Amino acid sequence: MIFKEKVLVTGGCGYIGSHTCLYLIENGYEPIIVDNLCNSNTEVLNRIKSIVGYKPIFYELDVRDENALDEVFCTHDIKSVIHFAGLKAVGESVEKPDLYYNNNIGSTNTLLKVMKKHNVKNIIFSSSATVYGNPKRVPIYENDPIGEVTNPYAETKVKIEFLLQDLANHDKTMNIGILRYFNPIGAHKSGLMGENPKGIPNNLMPYVTQVAIGLRDHLNVFGNDYDTRDGTCIRDYIHVCDLARGHVLTLNKLHQNSGLVIYNLGTSIGTTVLELVNAFEKANNIIIKKEFAPRRAGDIAECYANCDKAYKEIGFKTEFNIVDCCRDSWNWQKKNPNGFN
Ligand code: NAD
Ligand code: WQD
Repeated sequence: MIFKEKVLVTGGCGYIGSHTCLYLIENGYEPIIVDNLCNSNTEVLNRIKSIVGYKPIFYELDVRDENALDEVFCTHDIKSVIHFAGLKAVGESVEKPDLYYNNNIGSTNTLLKVMKKHNVKNIIFSSSATVYGNPKRVPIYENDPIGEVTNPYAETKVKIEFLLQDLANHDKTMNIGILRYFNPIGAHKSGLMGENPKGIPNNLMPYVTQVAIGLRDHLNVFGNDYDTRDGTCIRDYIHVCDLARGHVLTLNKLHQNSGLVIYNLGTSIGTTVLELVNAFEKANNIIIKKEFAPRRAGDIAECYANCDKAYKEIGFKTEFNIVDCCRDSWNWQKKNPNGFN
């Protein structure tokens, strides 16, 4: 295949990274993946090849390993970076804050150092709606306050955002995209790629699909006494393929010497836990056994995005709705009962 540019994709074997690699290839960008496989599997590279006919170049390395990373930049003429690599389990981050600070912030520091050495100016960073903490209002806008967060995972995202903002202020030649994802779900329509959590899923959709496939007995719905339309929490669930496309649009924007840009990537629609479960049941004609359980510590009642800025500046608009998400998540789980393993 002939590509117009090489893009380093850290964490490219993971859930969002792998889907983004597909869209990069389809849009003429060559992904060079680096991943230490702590939460992923190289089988995903074969799946990418089955879908787009090209197997991305891959290096198994930890982004904190400066020499190994430097070697990749020496070998390839990298023009841009998408930085997905990171640990993301909120509960684990409370148990092991040092691991999260070291991995997430450490990898970003090393990456920025090596980028500087090789004069690479474009970077997109995977941030999260979690940086808004318990939002003062919904929908949430990009200039709403960030930083009042309550777990080490979220703290690492906030600190990295501040670091990147300082960098953009200091060096006007840098082009930096901070993307705040809301709740990514769904999977590629082929059923060849999807979310592959290790152990008991922390997130709602993989838990639902594991109940559907019989790996878990029932879904615990955490809290039905919130001040929402049915008492369960409201989130903004975005299809991972829409999210992936958002990265390509942002990359195109960085190529116009955008400087720093920050976008919410969501659907702008709030969905309750029960609405999501109902949509899953209807889309797939499956009953999900569920029980109401106490609220989960740290959960907020409502979190959904205003995405007007991403629409105005990069033309980002979601194509998939919640039913598409439920259909594609189930299609992936059904075809891969044990994920990539
Ligand atoms: P994921 O765990 O599937 O992917 C992350 C990848 O990074 C994995 O393949 C893992 O092996 C790799 N990795 C982790 N630390 C590494 C290191 N030090 N060196 C090299 N590779 C390393 O997670 P995901 O859902 O695809 O998330 C991607 C990014 O998006 C993460 O930074 C996450 O914090 C962020 N994010 C995710 C969500 C979500 O709900 N999935 C929401 C908001 C933000
Ligand atoms: C969604 C809703 C749960 C599981 C987390 C991180 C956030 C971001 C996305 C990375 C909540 C309820 C869940 C279950 C349930 N990740 N639920 N039973 O909490 O919005 O965000 O993932 O940045 O940082 O905090 O997503 O999927 O965990 O939960 O009732 O077994 O589903 O209480 O209301 P959340 P989630």
